[in-house]
Amino acid sequence: METTRLTKDEITAAYQFRHATKIFDPARKISDEDFDFILEAGRLSPSSFGFEPWRFVVVQNEAVRERIRGAAWGAQRSLPTASHFIVFLTRTAPSLLPDSPHITHMIEQIQQLPPEVAAGKRQAYQNFLESDFRLLGDDRYVFEWASRQTYIALGNMLTAASLIGIDSCPIEGFVLDDLNRILAEEGILDPEQFSVSAMAAFGYRVQEPRAKTRRSIDSVVQWVR
Ligand SMILES: Cc1cc2nc3c(=O)[nH]c(=O)nc-3n(C[C@H](O)[C@H](O)[C@H](O)COP(=O)(O)O)c2cc1C
Repeated sequence: METTRLTKDEITAAYQFRHATKIFDPARKISDEDFDFILEAGRLSPSSFGFEPWRFVVVQNEAVRERIRGAAWGAQRSLPTASHFIVFLTRTAPSLLPDSPHITHMIEQIQQLPPEVAAGKRQAYQNFLESDFRLLGDDRYVFEWASRQTYIALGNMLTAASLIGIDSCPIEGFVLDDLNRILAEEGILDPEQFSVSAMAAFGYRVQEPRAKTRRSIDSVVQWVR
């Protein structure tokens, strides 16, 4: 497949450009084409077993944003100013069990595995949940494991945005139970099937950020040779 080659410097520049943007220019909107590109980066993200346990809810309704704001201390300035705002939902444990409708749909309709391969995958997934990762003790374990997949999509979307000059902020500054309740009341989320994992704001900065602070490469990388 043909891919456009960006240089390593261009890609690194995008990582440097990305910062947690606290406040956005309310007058600047992301074009549909650019936002579709960001969403596509999420859709194409990898997930464990390929089960895509996520949903990306794009909240453009001001009244709903304002309600979310009441439960989101970490998004006080971004919620009213972001061009686009995503709430990342992840499937709850019951909707991720090996015989659940979602897993069946993924294996049969999306991945289109032949029956004997599908049965093997379901069994491997059961073993993974039960013994490899020991996730079946508490529904929260499965949800948190699935949330990790959602964060891969989140990370990819932040990078995709930065590659085309769009600012963003990942957000976990919220009260989970309150946010789930608000979204359920708004008819956005079925609490049996989904819970919030994280949120992200997208738009254009109004001020330049502080210089990036990071540990040195030596203190974050351990080589085993
Ligand atoms: C999972 C996650 C949750 C975060 N939650 C918030 C948040 O609620 N509000 C906020 O302003 N920044 C939030 N941040 C931004 C971090 O504070 C920021 O990424 C970090 O300080 C590094 O700064 P930089 O992203 O500008 O390089 C979050 C970042 C991550 C990865």
